[in-house]
Amino acid sequence: MGKGHGFGKVIMFGEHFVVHGVPGIASATSLSTEAIVKKFKGPGLNVIDNRKGTEGYTQSKKEQQKESLEYTLKAMSIDLKKNPMEITLGGDLPVFSGIGASAASAVAIARAISDEFRMNLSDERINEIAYEAEKAYAGNPSGIDNTAATYGGLIWFMRGAPSKMERLKIKNPVEIVMGNSGVVADTKEVVAGVAERKQKNPQKYDKIFKDAEELVHKARKSLERFDLKTVGELMNENQKLLQEIEVSGKELDFLVKLARDKGAWGAKLTGGGVGGCMVALTPRKELQEKVASAMEKEGFKVLRMKIG
Ligand code: MEV
Repeated sequence: MGKGHGFGKVIMFGEHFVVHGVPGIASATSLSTEAIVKKFKGPGLNVIDNRKGTEGYTQSKKEQQKESLEYTLKAMSIDLKKNPMEITLGGDLPVFSGIGASAASAVAIARAISDEFRMNLSDERINEIAYEAEKAYAGNPSGIDNTAATYGGLIWFMRGAPSKMERLKIKNPVEIVMGNSGVVADTKEVVAGVAERKQKNPQKYDKIFKDAEELVHKARKSLERFDLKTVGELMNENQKLLQEIEVSGKELDFLVKLARDKGAWGAKLTGGGVGGCMVALTPRKELQEKVASAMEKEGFKVLRMKIG
């Protein structure tokens, strides 16, 4: 039997822009997905998915999960005909869109297979395999999700050849709230939609992408100075840019407004958008609780977490 885990993530700055080479800032969640791999009578592959989350998520991602597993096995040179296996997914990370559930499972599965077959793969190699697996879910992923899922912590990520990851240090961990819109989104479609609109409207999009790049550098400096007021303001500005590239949604905008009305220092969608999750900066437990419970009162699922 082989075992592995992968962290969830919350993108604080730069989703979508990061696909096109703008840096992004993400934090791994303390919640993670666990995978167990066992030998199986066969034929082929049996997947048991015990993860909890948004209704319809597992069903709507079934085909992408199958494709993702094919990419994983190919990258790991495993022949299912010779090695039929059963993969069980669990852990405390809920499968919401926007929380990096696909990357967390990709990393967990790669680690569990490596463990089962005594491959002893490095984190770097696990991250590469998970990147391949992510292509099934995101089409043209930047790599930020699988990198956060592999290494954990608060990271600065820039896509490139090779991509660059730096760890960010902040003075103290900070409370955040993640609110789930309850809408399952197809990241692949949303990512492709941005690329299409960017190509059709180069002038408009070049300006927005330039603003996003300036913003993420300011955000890094503010985080490192522990200037949370500015971090919050920049999250609000980031949300405006995400609305301009048309990746927000009715439920997300509602939750973002609700969080700000309840005193959050900043709020924006996080991850692929359209549906999925938003994140609110809520320093101190009392504010975190106030914002989280207001969302719960409206019937939304929330996670109370810390970054840094
Ligand atoms: C999805 O969590 C983040 C996106 O920027 C896609 C990616 O970076 O691969 C939308």
